[in-house]
Amino acid sequence: MKQQLENIRSQALAALEQASTPAALEELRVKLLGKKGELTAVLKQMGKLSAEERPVMGQLANSVRAAIEETLEKRKTEISAAVLEAKLESEAIDVTIPGDVVPLGHQHPMNMVLQEVKDIFVGLGYQIVDGPEVELADYNFTRLNIEEGHPSRDRSDTFYFTDDDSVLLRTQTSPMQIRVMENAKPPICILAPGRVFRKDEADATHSPMFHQIEGLVVDEHITMGDLKGALITLMKRLYGEDLEVRFRPHHFPFTEPSCEMDMQCHKCHGTGEVGGQVCSTCHGEGWIELLGAGMVHPKVLEGCGIDPEKYSGFAFGLGLERMAMGRLKINDLRLIFDNDTRFLNQF
Ligand code: PHE
Repeated sequence: MKQQLENIRSQALAALEQASTPAALEELRVKLLGKKGELTAVLKQMGKLSAEERPVMGQLANSVRAAIEETLEKRKTEISAAVLEAKLESEAIDVTIPGDVVPLGHQHPMNMVLQEVKDIFVGLGYQIVDGPEVELADYNFTRLNIEEGHPSRDRSDTFYFTDDDSVLLRTQTSPMQIRVMENAKPPICILAPGRVFRKDEADATHSPMFHQIEGLVVDEHITMGDLKGALITLMKRLYGEDLEVRFRPHHFPFTEPSCEMDMQCHKCHGTGEVGGQVCSTCHGEGWIELLGAGMVHPKVLEGCGIDPEKYSGFAFGLGLERMAMGRLKINDLRLIFDNDTRFLNQF
């Protein structure tokens, strides 16, 4: 029996040293010390021993049990330390590795130009106002003196929401003139930028959605000179003192007299040709049409409760995309809407 106990001790201690996981340790504990374990099996035979042998064997058995328990505890500590160590190692975060670079965007080039235009007009004392894109035909046409049957009212040009053609996507920012004038008394000095919509096929110079900036100034003694002064100031600030602009007579139902303003082509500098070829940006014209403008029609003033005998005003509506194309030397309008980052990153 002595030999049996010694064998158990040496085998047990060797097995414990070899066990490398908490589960293996637990298995060994049951096998060695459990009710059906090896040591218990030996102890069950104690009854067969003589009275002298029994205490000796009892002591030996206790020391074997104590040695096993002690080693078990020691291995438990060692293994859990090793498990923790391995876990820490596998979950380690190297805080010195450089982070992923998140690409940072910037303002869209068109918004950059819009911001420039707004800044210039705010500097001239204009107030920026905003209005609805879904508009009443009444504001978009009728109160702007655009009569029934006018071609711009045509269903092939305008996006209507209702069968009676009373609600639409605004085709111009000019309805903001009415919205401002019916709510404010002169002096009025506002700028109203926003989206407008027309049933245009998209090509290099047209898009079914584009941006306009409406300007309106109403006060006593406002003349065409004030209109020209404001627009020439804008253009020189944007493009530099050397820029040439020209005003041409035109017709709009809501201004009288009316004009259009062109800027000299930024590609061919007014010559109409580049390297012996017709300039593709201005189609050989030498000029690029930028905006419509004029003196607010007396009928429009009157319709908003403003006395045309006492007050006069000017209004203009400029195309922001055209402006941005000139300012940033972009030759195809679609590039502005494609949002290809290879294009956008250049600004
Ligand atoms: N609304 C006109 C257009 O879209 C431009 C314009 C605005 C003309 C203000 C005169 C006065 O063509």
